[in-house]
Amino acid sequence: MTTILVTGASGNLGSALLPRLSAPSDARLLDARALDARHFDARALDARHFDARALDAPHFDARALDAPHFDARALDAPPLDARPFDVRPMSRRERPGWVAADLSTGTGVSEAVRGADVVVHLASSPTKTRSTDVEGTRRLAAAASEAGVRHFVYMSIIGIDRVPLPYYRMKLAAEEVVRESGVPFTLLRAAQFPTLIDSFLTASSRLGPLLIDRRLVFQPVAVEDVADRIATLVAAPPAGKNTSPTRQIPPRAGEITPPTREIAPPAGEIAPPAGDVVELAGPSALTLAELANEWKQARNTRRPIWPIHVPGRFGRELRAGALTSTATPRGTRTWSEYLTSRYHAAR
Ligand SMILES: NC(=O)c1ccc[n+]([C@@H]2O[C@H](COP(=O)([O-])OP(=O)(O)OC[C@H]3O[C@@H](n4cnc5c(N)ncnc54)[C@H](OP(=O)(O)O)[C@@H]3O)[C@@H](O)[C@H]2O)c1
Repeated sequence: MTTILVTGASGNLGSALLPRLSAPSDARLLDARALDARHFDARALDARHFDARALDAPHFDARALDAPHFDARALDAPPLDARPFDVRPMSRRERPGWVAADLSTGTGVSEAVRGADVVVHLASSPTKTRSTDVEGTRRLAAAASEAGVRHFVYMSIIGIDRVPLPYYRMKLAAEEVVRESGVPFTLLRAAQFPTLIDSFLTASSRLGPLLIDRRLVFQPVAVEDVADRIATLVAAPPAGKNTSPTRQIPPRAGEITPPTREIAPPAGEIAPPAGDVVELAGPSALTLAELANEWKQARNTRRPIWPIHVPGRFGRELRAGALTSTATPRGTRTWSEYLTSRYHAAR
């Protein structure tokens, strides 16, 4: 069976990725095909709480899933009892069923990688960036080379080659480490996660008004979309089936066309490494003014926006869209969907 080591598995993105890689629910497929929020109650498919046995066709009652909106075609493909990958999550902390390793010291890294076919490297430290992201990635890649890993996916960030931030310089250096490691690789650069922009806006409003450069441009991408993408990057399509990376479920009469979602194929085989950078941004590039206005609405606050100008190359690059991408496919989950689930659901 294909073994996938996931570093940073306890993090924001790692938590979204694990259920997509670890059966039994084959949540990747369900998520990809059925989670069009307009037609389906996504809560039913929260992978952590979803019981795949409910999908055993003879016992499955579609009424349980709000039948008028549920598209049964979503259930046609997955081999529900197949466990496609042996997923090995990694953390610095001891946890049952996980491997313990620390990238910044190297403790446990070789043991963690031994026997892995794929490494999905999400771990990162904005405070100990050199020892974790650069030297830690060097240790991990060397261990991967030693272990004969066939695909090393490194999680990176769009615009790190343009935006002058120390953290970004380290991520770029880490990409270089991966390129030079000799291990077949994919460098997945994503745009900012909504939680980051949310925290940034919260921090910008600490003094009362929102102090922001209204013209900075972001293209937030949901961690769920990034996790879907990683799942498709590591999983090979099964022979003769679902070889297209995307599929559109045709709408019924009177329905709004659902967005295309990527489908992670159900085989335990691994996909070929890109050997290059692959970018993933969210569905739309938005100015900080647009993001802030929606954020204010969602948070039900009338705080005024006090425009500031972010100087230098940093500001210029962000206004010019250095953190955005025209690459397709894009994520489908929007900033306003994030705000609704984060703030409205909590009310
Ligand atoms: N946030 C964004 O907007 C964004 C955008 C694009 C790309 N990215 C990239 O996406 C990746 C995941 O981001 P995230 O927001 O999910 O991160 P996160 O929530 O901050 O999680 C970071 C993870 O790194 C692990 N880690 C930290 N130091 C480590 C060490 N010395 N050894 C081993 N593991 C260590 C932590 O694991 P333990 O604490 O369990 O050890 C934790 O699971 C990062 O590479 C980040 O650069 C983020």
